[in-house]
Amino acid sequence: MKINLKINGVWKEVEIDPSDYLLDVLRREGYLSVKKGCDTGTCGACTVLRDGYPILSCATLAATCDGHEITTAEGIADEMEDYAKMLAGEGAEQCGFCSPGLMVMLYALKKEIENGKVKKTKEDIRRYLIGNLCRCTGYAGQERAIFRYLGVE
Ligand code: FES
Ligand code: FES
Repeated sequence: MKINLKINGVWKEVEIDPSDYLLDVLRREGYLSVKKGCDTGTCGACTVLRDGYPILSCATLAATCDGHEITTAEGIADEMEDYAKMLAGEGAEQCGFCSPGLMVMLYALKKEIENGKVKKTKEDIRRYLIGNLCRCTGYAGQERAIFRYLGVE
């Protein structure tokens, strides 16, 4: 079957199998920032935005995204450049496997804070990002970069 996805601002017609998950379709189409960590909906590495809200692409059938807007880390690279520098500055980028999914989630969080839907406190930020796991860093450096980026003392 064919579906239409607006990926990072560009409409594309994509051939899929009805049982395909969005993660596999995006990677097949060349959006390699979308990572397959656990493939069971528990690590957050595959996070993308659908119509501006984060979803786990490993747990979302591509067919349900027909006609929707999908944003991957490639699509927000310019907006997130400052955060990427802060992450590197904190020495928090190790294997980097978790970074694109976390970056997408942080982008969504920033919008939620701006819209007043999430409070800009350390506790609320930690809660929002709790589903993005990292196997390397122990989170301390990532947290410092995230708090700096969001302007949290
Ligand atoms: S690969 Fe989707 S949550 Fe881990
Ligand atoms: S830096 Fe390796 S999983 Fe996060």
